[in-house]
Amino acid sequence: MAHFPTVRPRRLRENPAIRDLVREIRVHPDNLVMPIFVRPGKKERRAIATMPGIAQLSPDEALRECEAIAKAGVKSVLLFGIPEGKDAVASWGSREDGVVQQALTAIKKEIPELLLIADVCLCDYTDHGHCGLIQEAGERSLIENDSTLEILSKIAGSMARAGADIIAPSDMMDGRVQKIRDELDAAGFKHLPILSYAVKYASSFYGPFREALDSAPKFGDRKSYQMDPANFHEALREARQDLEEGADVLMVKPALTSLDVLRALRERFDVPLAAYQVSGEYAAIKFAAQHGAIDEASAVLETWTVLKRAGADILISYFAKDYASHL
Ligand code: PBG
Repeated sequence: MAHFPTVRPRRLRENPAIRDLVREIRVHPDNLVMPIFVRPGKKERRAIATMPGIAQLSPDEALRECEAIAKAGVKSVLLFGIPEGKDAVASWGSREDGVVQQALTAIKKEIPELLLIADVCLCDYTDHGHCGLIQEAGERSLIENDSTLEILSKIAGSMARAGADIIAPSDMMDGRVQKIRDELDAAGFKHLPILSYAVKYASSFYGPFREALDSAPKFGDRKSYQMDPANFHEALREARQDLEEGADVLMVKPALTSLDVLRALRERFDVPLAAYQVSGEYAAIKFAAQHGAIDEASAVLETWTVLKRAGADILISYFAKDYASHL
């Protein structure tokens, strides 16, 4: 093995052209997904204090935003809903006239080429803010798994009928991918892929999102269904299980705190992998940049590049619209 002074790694960093020549990872706008939040009303845009630049949008505004997103070169959006009403069993999630359903139908009609990914979960729609149904068990309230699957599959079917191109369950109940697959197949949507939030850690980095959706759990936390950030092997089991149940794409979140998991999934499984740069990761970069601590554009591009280097194919990011053109 040769070594210094024969070996000088800096030779390949001398100027922009040579750095471009040897660069291993390139992020392309085709890889990006932009999340949007749909709320009731008309001509409504409500800013989210902890996510500067992101707003809750009424369906008509969501359509306008999607035009801007498509114009920026982003080809996919991920939709979440702030419903008109919430109850214990998430009824508003599967209504034909639900906010996300309205937005899906309007966007599909006006911008048919834009890929619409519908998030499927209960927490947007439950008054208690949990991702599953509550079962009272003496002093304790439990999040009941199997009855939740019925509701999830109903929401998934409703999103499919409204025009979703991909169904993305984010609840972390056991068996949801299989249940949703069965429902979609039975309802004539055999062709719709499932992008499963396979590895979703119980994370501090979802804080701003819960403000955006007003979906924080009213009691307890999500640790009985979302994963412990301390666990790696469990991530492999979750991913394998979702694939066995029929997931087409696996997602890992949060993104930057899961680079090891992305790399491991990339080496073990031959399906597309998505990384979700979540609301807290967005806020961390945004606020640091606003205070002059870091440069926003280069920080965003750096995170996207390392996520891809770790193994992600698809990047879900609130920065997608603003930085697609920088790639
Ligand atoms: C809800 C859901 C959450 C996110 C996506 N789907 C929040 C949570 O689990 O509390 C987080 C996204 C983000 O923080 O950007 N099931």
